Amino acid sequence: MPAWMPTPLAFTLFMVLVPTTRQAKPSEPEGPALAFCPPLRSIGPGAMPADCDEEIHLQDGMMLSFYGHIEELEWALADASEAGRVPMDLVNAMLSFAESLNLMLCMARFRCVYPTTEEFQSDWNASCEQLLARAPPNFPWLSREPCSAGNELMEVVSLIIPRLRSDFGLPGRGARYPLDVAPVCGAVAQADFAQTWPFMFLNGTYGHHVVSTTRLPFADILEFFRQQQGLMPSELVVVNLGAHDGSCMDAQMVVKDVANCAFDLGARGVAVEGLETTALQHRWPGVVVHVGYISPRNVTRIVEDALAKLAVTRLDLLKIDLDHADCFFAEALLRQMRLAPAFLVVEYNRIFPPPIRFREQFSETKAGRMGLSWMDGKRGQHWSGCSMQAWHDTAAAHGYRLLQATLFDLTFLHQNVELQLGVEVVDGWPSSIFNAWLSSAHCFAPSRRLYGHQAFATLDLRALPELPADDRCELAARWWKSEGQTSQSELYC
Ligand SMILES: *[C@@H]1O[C@H](CO)[C@@H](O)[C@H](O)[C@H]1NC(C)=O
Ligand SMILES: *[C@@H]1O[C@H](CO)[C@@H](O)[C@H](O)[C@H]1NC(C)=O
Ligand SMILES: *[C@@H]1O[C@H](CO)[C@@H](O)[C@H](O)[C@H]1NC(C)=O
Repeated sequence: MPAWMPTPLAFTLFMVLVPTTRQAKPSEPEGPALAFCPPLRSIGPGAMPADCDEEIHLQDGMMLSFYGHIEELEWALADASEAGRVPMDLVNAMLSFAESLNLMLCMARFRCVYPTTEEFQSDWNASCEQLLARAPPNFPWLSREPCSAGNELMEVVSLIIPRLRSDFGLPGRGARYPLDVAPVCGAVAQADFAQTWPFMFLNGTYGHHVVSTTRLPFADILEFFRQQQGLMPSELVVVNLGAHDGSCMDAQMVVKDVANCAFDLGARGVAVEGLETTALQHRWPGVVVHVGYISPRNVTRIVEDALAKLAVTRLDLLKIDLDHADCFFAEALLRQMRLAPAFLVVEYNRIFPPPIRFREQFSETKAGRMGLSWMDGKRGQHWSGCSMQAWHDTAAAHGYRLLQATLFDLTFLHQNVELQLGVEVVDGWPSSIFNAWLSSAHCFAPSRRLYGHQAFATLDLRALPELPADDRCELAARWWKSEGQTSQSELYC
């Protein structure tokens, strides 16, 4: 845990949880908004020429290392910006450059969706001009047409990343996408970076990068709650669906599982894990372990049986990270369980902005996600879990409201506890949920690139939040249908 004393804890909690209405000063536009790639008209069943799909997939392998470099450039920029090692105008310029680099690679990959060679050529030429205008000044290009030379473009990345290491001692800031990359982010406030916590440790070709969060660690929220309720650590009761190997943090001290952390501090409860593991047995004295697959039909019985063994009379935290149909498990538990948890901490699908409701359905055969090739797994990552709006609805139906969101997780608080704690939550519908999504899942690098989400998508993920809500839903539905996902999930607004 970071060394951070809880003296002004209630105050800090208040500061974090009360949504700010302060508008950020829009950063200077770096140029015209960068085009979407592939063009939006190519999204949807039948919208792509028949032989195009295969052609695109043939190029996947070659393109992946290029996309990986761009993603790493964003990791490095986020790290440097948050640590105050690089001035904001440079962060903006480099994020802009990264996006225009991505655009060139993407156009090369999706070349076949352009109806004529001339159309492709003229778009390509325009994008190339934008790229060269955004490249670092005086870059010694080797060829006369650097836009066509992928390797040469990547050399720019290797030139930039080492320069982000020197320390200018500036105030830390999130690396927010500039207006030419994501116009919708112009209104998203910068979080207060006075206090941050390492959130991701990323190993790349050019070294490792730490990305931080300004969100209050859940451990501190739970500790505040515990003290307010006058409970001993061992009186807290936690249900952990998806306990993995039982670890709380990884080797770099990045928190991986808030429920396991609570167990380490003495909380009692239930740990459920689908994959075979022996790491959980006898790990914590007050925790009943269930190893084996579960379904929304039997999850309540499995959890209630375990809680009965412990004779608990309260439930403080339900954490769900099963990587499969998570909100259907939540729905079953919240509907059927005897006790209502104070907090819900759940992983969410960050691809789809509110008001899009995306829910992956439960499937016996998909439960283990076994047997998928690496590439199919990567392509399938957009279609897993539940979107922020879907979680919001499920939670709201049972009396929960969103307390805070990170890139990976949503924390909901039961309204009874909200009153007891005297905190405010992200309230209202629908704009503030959309704003919560923008600031946690979209506007700060490396959000939508992380783990190749953008690289493996056949939709420019920037397009969804830029469109008005109705068009956003329509576009998402076209993409969903074109990827053959309709029988395995629901998607609507
Ligand atoms: C694009 O640029 C190339 C080379 O710079 C040029 O030959 C071609 O005519 C341009 N095409 C269009 C459609 O602008
Ligand atoms: C990343 O690299 C460091 C050494 O540079 C190593 O200790 C660590 O285990 C690596 N982490 C991952 C997730 O590969
Ligand atoms: C719960 O359901 C899953 C999926 O149908 C099944 O594999 C598992 O054996 C069931 N577990 C129990 C304890 O009934």
